Amino acid sequence: MHPTRLAIVGLGNVGLRLLELLRLKRDTIRTRFERDLLVVGVCDSAASVHDAQGLDISTILDVKRSKQSIAHLPNARTNTTPAEWLAHLDIDIVVELTPTNLKTGEPGLSAIRTALARKLSVVTANKGPLVLAYSELATLARQNGVALLHSAAVTGGLPTLNIGTRDLAVTTIERVEGILNGTTNYILSRMAQGQAYDEALKHTQEIGMAEADPSLDVDGWDAANKLVIIANAVLRRPTTLKDVTVEGIRHITLDDIRDAQEHRQTIKLIASAERIGKDYNLTVRPTRLDQSHPLARLGAGMMGVIYETDINGTIFAAIQEDDPYPTAAAVLRDIVQIATQRA
Ligand SMILES: NC(=O)c1ccc[n+]([C@@H]2O[C@H](COP(=O)([O-])OP(=O)(O)OC[C@H]3O[C@@H](n4cnc5c(N)ncnc54)[C@H](OP(=O)(O)O)[C@@H]3O)[C@@H](O)[C@H]2O)c1
Repeated sequence: MHPTRLAIVGLGNVGLRLLELLRLKRDTIRTRFERDLLVVGVCDSAASVHDAQGLDISTILDVKRSKQSIAHLPNARTNTTPAEWLAHLDIDIVVELTPTNLKTGEPGLSAIRTALARKLSVVTANKGPLVLAYSELATLARQNGVALLHSAAVTGGLPTLNIGTRDLAVTTIERVEGILNGTTNYILSRMAQGQAYDEALKHTQEIGMAEADPSLDVDGWDAANKLVIIANAVLRRPTTLKDVTVEGIRHITLDDIRDAQEHRQTIKLIASAERIGKDYNLTVRPTRLDQSHPLARLGAGMMGVIYETDINGTIFAAIQEDDPYPTAAAVLRDIVQIATQRA
């Protein structure tokens, strides 16, 4: 069995869990798909290591879990960017898991560009490069005959993109709507239990779900970024953030929540694309949903999506995602998809 050689860029929450899953699912992948996934390179913000025979996953996990850099490993190289590192590696798939940077897309954008230009398939969970340069990267992948899979970049373990791109490939999507941001759903769920916005936000920050600067989540931009990727990948509509009308949840009060409840409604931050003629109207905004609506029932820690279609009926999918394992599992599934399509 020829191994499929992986280079993983970024060893944080998702990258380390991916390493765990690669170890855990090794036999399953061998038995089910006759594929052997071999990690031959990893890099973090300080260094990179490479071994053509395969790196020892347990050693990498031990180093990173003790809060050290892989610069402490033998043969580590420093002073190279991920793109420079990837430019010469003998590998099959690049797995790009660096932080989302919505201003420049870096370092992920250059890493993905370099890999695709070298005719290497890429799996990423990083929204930044996709939001900033979706058309360019998709075209580069297509022209070079390689894959760019990014299902984990939108709603982590929930297969929003796979349902849309694969299962609904020949339908016309009339409407897609979803709760795409876990943090705002957590805040709104606590507000539905009587907690004021400031208190709910503070709690969400204390448990590490919201950033110290929560604006990306609470002002709706994270959901909008995911909607941009859905529009490009699923609706095949070249889309950037400026095409989305965005409103966040900062101004929602307990009075708004109670008023909705008195009318048997629930307020959720809904991202939606609605077909109008040949185009789609893209919005993110707090929305009053009847309590019987499937998305209204999604509590803290949950995300969900609904596709309304012409020939596939209405599809609803949801996930309870309490840690990054489902996201890492989605990355692993993308890797396996590429590995099994290779000769
Ligand atoms: N966490 C989730 O549940 C989730 C869900 C969906 C999508 N995502 C996306 O997945 C990606 C990874 O998320 P995460 O939570 O794993 O992030 P994270 O914990 O912040 O880890 C990021 C990793 O990237 C490395 N890194 C940072 N700058 C780098 C650079 N210039 N060169 C090389 N490596 C660099 C970091 O190195 P150090 O280890 O040295 O700091 C770290 O290992 C993000 O784009 C995120 O938006 C995450």
